Amino acid sequence: MRYYVLTLFPEMVEQGLKTSILGRAQSQGLISLKAVNIRDFSENKHGHVDDYPYGGGAGMVMQPGPVYRACEAVEAEIGHGARVIYMTPQGRVFDQNMAKELAKEEELIFLCGHYEGIDERVLEQKVTDCVSIGDYVLTGGELPAMVMIDCISRLVPGVLNNDQSAEIESFHDNLLEYPQYTRPEEFMGMRVPEVLLSGHHANIERWRREESIRRTLERRPDLLPDAHLTDREREYLDGLQKG
Ligand code: ADE
Repeated sequence: MRYYVLTLFPEMVEQGLKTSILGRAQSQGLISLKAVNIRDFSENKHGHVDDYPYGGGAGMVMQPGPVYRACEAVEAEIGHGARVIYMTPQGRVFDQNMAKELAKEEELIFLCGHYEGIDERVLEQKVTDCVSIGDYVLTGGELPAMVMIDCISRLVPGVLNNDQSAEIESFHDNLLEYPQYTRPEEFMGMRVPEVLLSGHHANIERWRREESIRRTLERRPDLLPDAHLTDREREYLDGLQKG
């Protein structure tokens, strides 16, 4: 997967994605990231990329020219069409299913706005997808693009080790993760659930599924209608709901 991020703050994106799992994935060549500074495509002698909004109003608007040229440069480098994702609170809300879809692409171009947004004309010309990371407003599109890159990258084969990959499946089931414990066996008088010490794999698996179901019911009941449950698990859920 090759990511291109069009931004006024390339260091923010590069620095934020170079540690831990994504840093390693970049060194291994499983993903690559190029942060392109939109300011480099300004034709203004001061390097300005924004101006006052026509019609008046607060704030500044990013001009279409630099964004257009930055996008053209990246598209020329890629050599074929690629999705251009504009980060905006007005977009479709990002979720795991969208991440799965986007992970199939070879390249993704993220466009990050600042100030009061970007001139609509370049958005009409270049953007294929408008995406929001949630119903709240941030100061720019960089953090949202980084959130998406993190989430999509863990679905790229090899980025997580095989052990971790299995964990992805649990979200496909629309269930929240079960609680985890490690040593010591007792902490401030609280013991690790006995079943986890038993070595009985079938019982552990069953306990974990039940904890996932209980947790999802308590914290995210909206996920349950699309959860994949066995008949026995459905009975367990019915029991909790009646209880
Ligand atoms: N830019 C500002 N807020 C945003 C959000 N919630 N999602 C995507 N882009 C944004």
